[in-house]
Amino acid sequence: MRSKVMLSMLVGSMFTLALATVAMADGGKYSPIVDAKSELCYPLTLTFKRPSGVLKTSFAPVSFSHGQHGNIACGTCHHMWDGKGKIEGCATEGCHDNLKERQEPTSYFRAFHDKNAENSCLGCHMKTNIARKEKGQKPLSVAPCSNNGCHVAQK
Ligand code: HEC
Ligand code: HEC
Repeated sequence: MRSKVMLSMLVGSMFTLALATVAMADGGKYSPIVDAKSELCYPLTLTFKRPSGVLKTSFAPVSFSHGQHGNIACGTCHHMWDGKGKIEGCATEGCHDNLKERQEPTSYFRAFHDKNAENSCLGCHMKTNIARKEKGQKPLSVAPCSNNGCHVAQK
């Protein structure tokens, strides 16, 4: 009995291996009808590591899920992306690289907290909440800053 189980496991794993080899032979990443010309790789979820030198805060670090924002076009947030090349981070030189101020348009802080920008976390969540309120839906948690949907207080 035991050897039969072993044998079927062995045959099973050989079969899987054979299938995997067939898939690998063609790059193996995509289905056979896809002839990929370029590709993009991006983090599904991430936690922000604050750049060194950025203004200090006692609020908890923020996590972000691309999946939870899947209905929003990439270019809304990645507003300098040309749609072809590499997508760069917000604090890239020449972008939101002013780490010491809060209100400058180039400030790192403002990339996420500009209440009037539709592509900052806070700006979009506040705008979303107006629409949600009208529809009687639960708002996204934006306040208090020390423990909201973004800066989730750590226990
Ligand atoms: C709601 C806003 C938002 C949307 C929509 C969005 N992203 Fe992002 N993405 C972010 C944020 C915030 C980061 C982290 C910022 C940073 O890296 O400084 C990030 C990081 C990335 C990175 C890593 C950049 C790096 O720093 O190396 C890639 C690649 C990326 N996103 C690709 C995409 C693609 C592709 C899409 C569309 C399918 C997309 N993003 C949609 C907000 C967004
Ligand atoms: C352009 C609009 C937009 C931007 C920009 C945006 N969000 Fe959101 N975010 C949304 C919407 C809409 C939802 C609700 C998604 C759902 O319910 O399916 C959401 C949901 C969330 C949630 C889920 C928690 C909750 O309260 O329900 C978190 C956390 C979050 N966003 C963090 C961020 C962070 C951090 C950033 C900036 C780096 C960001 N978002 C930028 C529109 C946005």
